[in-house]
Amino acid sequence: MTTHHSSAKASEADGLKTLSPALQAELKALEADFTVDGPKLKHISQRFEEELREGLEKNGCNIPMNVTWTLGFPTGDETGEFLAMDLGGTNLRVCWIELKGRDGETVVTQEKYPLAPQIKTGDADALWSLLAESLEHFIDANHLRREDGEALPLGFTFSYPATQEYVDHGVLQTWTKGFDIKGVEGEDAAAQLTEAMKKRNLPVRLVALINDTTGAMIASAYNDPETIIGAIFGTGCNAAYMEHVKAIPKLKTDLPGDTPMAINCEYGAFDNAHRVLPRTKFDERIDRDSPRPGEQSFEKMSAGLYLGELYRLIMCELHDKSLVFKGQNITALRKPYILDTAFLSALEDDTFRTVRTWFEAKLNLCLNEEEFHLSRRLSEMIALRGARLCICGVAAICRMKGIQSGHVAADGSVANKHPQFKARWAQAMGEILDWPSDRKEDPIVITSAEDGSGVGAAVIAAMTLKRVEEGNMAGIRQPR
Ligand code: BGC
Repeated sequence: MTTHHSSAKASEADGLKTLSPALQAELKALEADFTVDGPKLKHISQRFEEELREGLEKNGCNIPMNVTWTLGFPTGDETGEFLAMDLGGTNLRVCWIELKGRDGETVVTQEKYPLAPQIKTGDADALWSLLAESLEHFIDANHLRREDGEALPLGFTFSYPATQEYVDHGVLQTWTKGFDIKGVEGEDAAAQLTEAMKKRNLPVRLVALINDTTGAMIASAYNDPETIIGAIFGTGCNAAYMEHVKAIPKLKTDLPGDTPMAINCEYGAFDNAHRVLPRTKFDERIDRDSPRPGEQSFEKMSAGLYLGELYRLIMCELHDKSLVFKGQNITALRKPYILDTAFLSALEDDTFRTVRTWFEAKLNLCLNEEEFHLSRRLSEMIALRGARLCICGVAAICRMKGIQSGHVAADGSVANKHPQFKARWAQAMGEILDWPSDRKEDPIVITSAEDGSGVGAAVIAAMTLKRVEEGNMAGIRQPR
């Protein structure tokens, strides 16, 4: 195994030696810009911790540390039937979830509805009508209407920064991940969805609005009590953890100080002031051309939406310097966001023959061996930086809370589709937290999250309904 690995590395190094001197010089400069070493990681994490603390202290800080009114971890005894709806980047997913407790088998029936790209830049009406229409279709296709006409409880996963005064409420602070829908920022997304459902007379009541990170943490904790954090490394990047109410000075509440409250950090916004992140000109370009320049600085350097884009921008620049794809028409490569994470991970792992076929099919480009070796190194460099940076947020939470062990439940396209990510995260965590290099196992382990936006939304809805039953209405708006 080891021999195979080192010989693979050796042949990669040999491949890089075949690059022209001009390309070697370019690559060297890029590698210098994209490398984040251990001391730098520590420095970033220290600043990260400061921003996390500031967000708990006061409203309006850069990292908002949103309270979610998910009060504590599930017991594992939560049961019942729930609708769950997840507004993702490419799809809308609607689920019917039957929870049977930790020892029972959760049953998920689901359907995906495509989210046309124009929805993402359209207006609120079009968005909410589509959601209500899809929900109606799902309810009817699965014969879910109850004979007594009682409303079906819904957990709605809305994975954008939202101010929650209640669990069934969420005022959108700003769109992220390239969304730019007019008429939602500053408004209560839960109320807007409820209104659209009313127009269609849907027998549904929104019980909880949740973030995907909180969902990942709660769905995972439902099965695995060692879960401490839910982290998403997908189109966007963010994490949730559990905080004591007394450690959230900005929160004015009568709840006892030791009440646990899930915090959706929204740390994609880390370092928007550009104090510590080592931004390259390509990162600056991505930010400048995005719908919300100046926002989500950290996310734009590390999340899945942007990894392929970084590679694309570098290759376009090298082409413009007449160093790659010489004499070829790169029109397809000029299209923003044409390359996703799957493409980037294929570049790192697949053979020359496979990658060449991809280039022909997707970009109408003929890739030579030199460009292949260069691309492999660039994709590794971009993904490695992304993984190392992204874990700084998780490490900062652990440092702030003094967490020594437990499971970080991770989900998202990058965590799932990029094979090296988890190992790179773990390595960087060790560097930041000074784990001994000869350790047998990692004290904090990154696990694969359970389905947060389906099962997690259902478990949070179940926990909320249980609180209503017990007459504990703290953080619940709708009287039922
Ligand atoms: C959003 C977060 C979300 C993350 C991962 C970010 O852009 O602001 O709410 O958790 O993406 O999906």
